[in-house]
Order: sequence, then C-alpha cells, then structure tokens
Amino acid sequence: MWFSKPAPGPEPAAPFFVWSSEEHTVGVAVFDQDHERLAVLLSRINTALHEKHDRALVLKLMESLIQETQAHFDHEEWVMEQVGYAEREAHAAEHSALIQEVNILFQKFQKGGISALAIPNFLKAWLIPHMKVTDRKYTACLRRSGLR
Ligand SMILES: [Fe+2]
Ligand SMILES: [Fe+2]
Repeated sequence: MWFSKPAPGPEPAAPFFVWSSEEHTVGVAVFDQDHERLAVLLSRINTALHEKHDRALVLKLMESLIQETQAHFDHEEWVMEQVGYAEREAHAAEHSALIQEVNILFQKFQKGGISALAIPNFLKAWLIPHMKVTDRKYTACLRRSGLR
C-alpha cells in the first residue's frame, strides 16, 4: 500500500510543523508569511496521510507545496537581486538543489518507490535550517533597503 498504518507511538495528531514567529522569523513580513504558508501545507499533507488516507488529496497538496516552494524561492531570489544582496548566488544555489531533490522524490513517490512521508519529512528537515540560517543572512540587507 502507498500508506501504511502509523506505527504505535506519539499521536500523529500532534502538529507536524508549527511556524513560530519567535523561532522562525526572518524579519521580513512577506517571507515570514510565505514560510508560514509552507508550514501549513506541510501539516496538511501530514494530516492527509495519517488521518484521511486520501492519496488524491496528498498528491494535490504535494503539487501545491512544490509550486509554492518554487514561487517563494523565485520571489526571494528576485528581491535579493533587486537589493544587490552579496550572497544571492549561493542562496539561489541552495534553492535549486532543494527543488531538484524534491522533484526527484516526488517522481519516486508517484511511482510508489518511496513512502509518502519522505517528501514532507525531507522538506521540513531542509526548510527549518534554511529559514533559520540561510534566509536570516539576508535580513539586514533587505531591511536596509526598506523591507520589513
Ligand atoms: Fe525562504
Ligand atoms: Fe531561501
């Protein structure tokens, strides 16, 4: 089966990824909102997997997640370019590597080669350090250009 009964253990009802302004803010409202939306989508996928067991919904949500992630990256890259942020190329390279990897995982999932949870787990494991380390490096530069 594409999903398996969750192993006994902590209740899957616990939120998968709760965005917190204290923990995750990058200090630029538009990007904080994007990150929060990605966190909500990740949690919705987790719920669809564990509680609804709805493959069609999971596929639809994963497609939205990948599209929204790509749109968020494009937006960050555009802004970094506009303000002449010095580390924009390295930052964009991290984005491309993630999108490449996530597309490979998604294809594997569609063929039944990996567990459905691999994608949200991978994104959560990737997104949090990216937000907290790489994204935060642009904060000072963006704020100097007037972004809040
Ligand atoms: Fe970001
Ligand atoms: Fe980023």
